[in-house]
Amino acid sequence: MGEPLTFADPSIDRILVDEAQIRQRLEDVGRDVTADYARQGVHLVGILKGSLVVMADLMRVLTIPTTVDFLAVSGYGPDAGRSGAVRVMKDLDQDIEGRPVLVVEDVIDTGLTLNYILRTLRTRHPASLDVFTLLDKPTHRLVDLGIRYVGFTIPDCFVVGYGLDYQEQFRNLPYIATLKSVEPDG
Ligand code: IMP
Ligand code: MG
Repeated sequence: MGEPLTFADPSIDRILVDEAQIRQRLEDVGRDVTADYARQGVHLVGILKGSLVVMADLMRVLTIPTTVDFLAVSGYGPDAGRSGAVRVMKDLDQDIEGRPVLVVEDVIDTGLTLNYILRTLRTRHPASLDVFTLLDKPTHRLVDLGIRYVGFTIPDCFVVGYGLDYQEQFRNLPYIATLKSVEPDG
Protein backbone atom coordinates (compact mmCIF):
# COMPACT_ATOMS: atom_id res chain seq x y z
CA MET A 1 0.00 0.00 0.00
CA GLY A 2 1.23 3.49 -0.85
CA GLU A 3 0.88 6.78 0.97
CA PRO A 4 -2.66 7.87 1.81
CA LEU A 5 -4.12 10.06 -0.91
CA THR A 6 -4.59 13.72 -0.18
CA PHE A 7 -6.79 15.88 -2.34
CA ALA A 8 -5.16 19.04 -3.54
CA ASP A 9 -8.24 21.12 -4.32
CA PRO A 10 -8.06 24.37 -2.32
CA SER A 11 -11.85 24.61 -2.11
CA ILE A 12 -12.02 21.66 0.30
CA ASP A 13 -12.52 23.10 3.77
CA ARG A 14 -12.45 20.25 6.27
CA ILE A 15 -13.17 16.57 6.53
CA LEU A 16 -16.46 15.99 8.34
CA VAL A 17 -16.45 12.18 8.21
CA ASP A 18 -13.25 10.34 7.39
CA GLU A 19 -12.74 6.99 5.66
CA ALA A 20 -12.28 4.97 8.85
CA GLN A 21 -15.48 6.40 10.34
CA ILE A 22 -17.43 5.57 7.19
CA ARG A 23 -16.07 2.01 7.08
CA GLN A 24 -16.87 1.41 10.75
CA ARG A 25 -20.38 2.80 10.49
CA LEU A 26 -21.16 0.78 7.34
CA GLU A 27 -20.05 -2.39 9.09
CA ASP A 28 -22.50 -1.64 11.89
CA VAL A 29 -25.36 -0.76 9.55
CA GLY A 30 -24.50 -3.81 7.44
CA ARG A 31 -24.90 -6.02 10.48
CA ASP A 32 -28.32 -4.53 11.20
CA VAL A 33 -29.48 -4.91 7.60
CA THR A 34 -28.14 -8.46 7.48
CA ALA A 35 -30.05 -9.34 10.63
CA ASP A 36 -33.28 -7.56 9.62
CA TYR A 37 -33.40 -9.12 6.13
CA ALA A 38 -31.91 -12.52 6.98
CA ARG A 39 -35.15 -14.35 6.21
CA GLN A 40 -36.05 -12.79 2.86
CA GLY A 41 -32.83 -11.26 1.49
CA VAL A 42 -32.76 -7.66 0.31
CA HIS A 43 -33.21 -5.77 -2.95
CA LEU A 44 -31.14 -2.57 -2.85
CA VAL A 45 -32.33 0.37 -4.94
CA GLY A 46 -29.71 3.10 -5.25
CA ILE A 47 -30.56 6.63 -6.30
CA LEU A 48 -28.02 7.80 -8.86
CA LYS A 49 -25.56 9.27 -8.94
CA GLY A 50 -24.94 10.15 -5.30
CA SER A 51 -25.51 6.64 -3.91
CA LEU A 52 -22.91 5.07 -6.21
CA VAL A 53 -20.07 4.92 -3.71
CA VAL A 54 -22.01 4.03 -0.57
CA MET A 55 -23.90 1.35 -2.50
CA ALA A 56 -20.65 -0.32 -3.52
CA ASP A 57 -19.43 -0.39 0.07
CA LEU A 58 -22.74 -1.25 1.75
CA MET A 59 -23.51 -4.22 -0.50
CA ARG A 60 -20.15 -5.76 0.30
CA VAL A 61 -20.76 -5.84 4.04
CA LEU A 62 -24.07 -7.71 3.65
CA THR A 63 -23.91 -11.46 4.13
CA ILE A 64 -27.42 -12.31 2.91
CA PRO A 65 -28.80 -12.79 -0.63
CA THR A 66 -28.61 -9.29 -2.14
CA THR A 67 -29.70 -7.85 -5.48
CA VAL A 68 -29.09 -4.33 -6.75
CA ASP A 69 -30.84 -1.89 -9.06
CA PHE A 70 -30.61 1.85 -9.68
CA LEU A 71 -32.96 4.73 -10.28
CA ALA A 72 -31.88 8.13 -11.61
CA VAL A 73 -33.97 11.23 -11.03
CA SER A 74 -33.55 14.85 -11.98
CA GLY A 75 -33.44 17.37 -9.16
CA TYR A 76 -36.64 19.30 -8.68
CA GLY A 77 -36.59 22.78 -10.19
CA PRO A 78 -37.36 26.01 -8.34
CA ASP A 79 -40.94 25.85 -9.66
CA ALA A 80 -41.61 22.38 -8.25
CA GLY A 81 -42.28 24.00 -4.87
CA ARG A 82 -43.01 21.64 -2.04
CA SER A 83 -44.40 18.92 -4.28
CA GLY A 84 -40.82 17.76 -4.72
CA ALA A 85 -41.82 16.48 -8.13
CA VAL A 86 -38.76 15.04 -9.81
CA ARG A 87 -38.39 13.44 -13.19
CA VAL A 88 -37.33 9.81 -13.50
CA MET A 89 -34.34 9.91 -15.85
CA LYS A 90 -33.55 6.20 -15.64
CA ASP A 91 -36.11 3.79 -14.28
CA LEU A 92 -35.41 0.53 -12.47
CA ASP A 93 -34.47 -2.44 -14.66
CA GLN A 94 -36.30 -4.92 -12.46
CA ASP A 95 -39.85 -5.28 -11.18
CA ILE A 96 -40.07 -4.70 -7.40
CA GLU A 97 -43.52 -6.20 -6.83
CA GLY A 98 -43.43 -8.49 -3.79
CA ARG A 99 -39.76 -7.79 -3.09
CA PRO A 100 -38.08 -6.46 0.07
CA VAL A 101 -36.80 -3.11 -1.16
CA LEU A 102 -34.22 -1.02 0.65
CA VAL A 103 -33.65 2.37 -0.96
CA VAL A 104 -30.05 3.58 -0.68
CA GLU A 105 -29.60 7.37 -0.64
CA ASP A 106 -26.58 9.61 -0.20
CA VAL A 107 -28.20 12.45 1.72
CA ILE A 108 -31.65 13.52 2.83
CA ASP A 109 -32.16 17.24 3.35
CA THR A 110 -35.76 18.48 2.97
CA GLY A 111 -36.85 14.93 2.18
CA LEU A 112 -38.83 16.07 -0.86
CA THR A 113 -36.82 14.07 -3.39
CA LEU A 114 -37.03 10.87 -1.44
CA ASN A 115 -40.67 11.42 -0.59
CA TYR A 116 -41.47 11.56 -4.29
CA ILE A 117 -39.39 8.48 -5.03
CA LEU A 118 -41.03 6.49 -2.22
CA ARG A 119 -44.50 7.44 -3.42
CA THR A 120 -43.59 6.26 -6.90
CA LEU A 121 -42.08 2.98 -5.71
CA ARG A 122 -45.01 2.27 -3.38
CA THR A 123 -47.41 2.13 -6.34
CA ARG A 124 -45.44 -0.90 -7.57
CA HIS A 125 -46.31 -2.91 -4.46
CA PRO A 126 -42.98 -4.04 -3.00
CA ALA A 127 -43.24 -6.50 -0.09
CA SER A 128 -41.52 -3.86 2.04
CA LEU A 129 -40.05 -0.43 1.39
CA ASP A 130 -37.42 1.02 3.70
CA VAL A 131 -34.62 3.56 3.46
CA PHE A 132 -30.94 3.70 4.25
CA THR A 133 -29.32 7.11 3.94
CA LEU A 134 -25.63 7.70 4.41
CA LEU A 135 -26.23 11.25 5.64
CA ASP A 136 -29.22 12.77 7.36
CA LYS A 137 -29.54 16.56 7.52
CA PRO A 138 -32.69 16.98 9.64
CA THR A 139 -32.53 20.79 9.98
CA HIS A 140 -34.66 21.60 6.92
CA ARG A 141 -36.82 18.46 6.81
CA LEU A 142 -40.25 19.17 5.32
CA VAL A 143 -41.62 15.62 5.16
CA ASP A 144 -41.28 12.96 7.83
CA LEU A 145 -40.11 9.85 6.03
CA GLY A 146 -39.44 7.37 8.81
CA ILE A 147 -35.91 6.54 7.74
CA ARG A 148 -34.95 3.07 8.98
CA TYR A 149 -31.14 3.28 8.76
CA VAL A 150 -29.00 6.42 9.03
CA GLY A 151 -25.24 6.47 8.56
CA PHE A 152 -24.49 9.88 10.06
CA THR A 153 -26.66 12.75 11.22
CA ILE A 154 -24.94 15.98 10.26
CA PRO A 155 -25.63 19.69 10.76
CA ASP A 156 -26.98 21.92 8.03
CA CYS A 157 -23.93 22.32 5.83
CA PHE A 158 -23.22 21.49 2.22
CA VAL A 159 -20.95 18.47 1.91
CA VAL A 160 -19.17 16.68 -0.91
CA GLY A 161 -17.28 13.46 -1.43
CA TYR A 162 -18.01 9.74 -1.18
CA GLY A 163 -20.51 10.10 -4.03
CA LEU A 164 -21.81 13.57 -3.22
CA ASP A 165 -21.08 16.36 -5.65
CA TYR A 166 -20.90 20.08 -6.08
CA GLN A 167 -21.61 20.77 -9.76
CA GLU A 168 -20.61 17.15 -10.53
CA GLN A 169 -17.20 17.53 -8.88
CA PHE A 170 -15.77 15.82 -5.79
CA ARG A 171 -17.76 12.55 -5.98
CA ASN A 172 -14.45 10.68 -5.99
CA LEU A 173 -13.24 11.88 -2.60
CA PRO A 174 -12.99 8.90 -0.23
CA TYR A 175 -14.26 11.02 2.69
CA ILE A 176 -17.05 13.54 3.32
CA ALA A 177 -15.90 17.15 3.41
CA THR A 178 -17.24 20.67 3.54
CA LEU A 179 -16.32 23.29 0.96
CA LYS A 180 -14.92 26.71 1.73
CA SER A 181 -17.85 28.58 0.20
CA VAL A 182 -20.55 27.26 -2.09
CA GLU A 183 -23.83 28.28 -3.56
CA PRO A 184 -25.87 25.16 -2.81
CA ASP A 185 -27.01 23.65 -6.10
CA GLY A 186 -29.34 20.95 -4.76
P1 IMP B 1 -33.84 16.95 -0.52
O1 IMP B 1 -34.89 16.69 -1.58
O2 IMP B 1 -33.89 18.36 -0.02
O3 IMP B 1 -33.88 15.95 0.60
O4 IMP B 1 -32.46 16.91 -1.25
C1 IMP B 1 -31.84 15.76 -1.54
C2 IMP B 1 -30.90 15.95 -2.71
O5 IMP B 1 -30.25 17.23 -2.70
C3 IMP B 1 -29.82 14.92 -2.59
O6 IMP B 1 -30.16 13.74 -3.26
C4 IMP B 1 -28.62 15.64 -3.19
O7 IMP B 1 -28.58 15.48 -4.58
C5 IMP B 1 -28.86 17.10 -2.88
N1 IMP B 1 -28.15 17.53 -1.66
C6 IMP B 1 -28.69 17.93 -0.49
N2 IMP B 1 -27.75 18.26 0.40
C7 IMP B 1 -26.55 18.07 -0.22
C8 IMP B 1 -25.18 18.24 0.20
O8 IMP B 1 -24.84 18.64 1.33
N3 IMP B 1 -24.23 17.92 -0.73
C9 IMP B 1 -24.53 17.48 -1.98
N4 IMP B 1 -25.80 17.30 -2.41
C10 IMP B 1 -26.80 17.60 -1.54
MG1 MG C 1 -26.53 16.61 -6.39
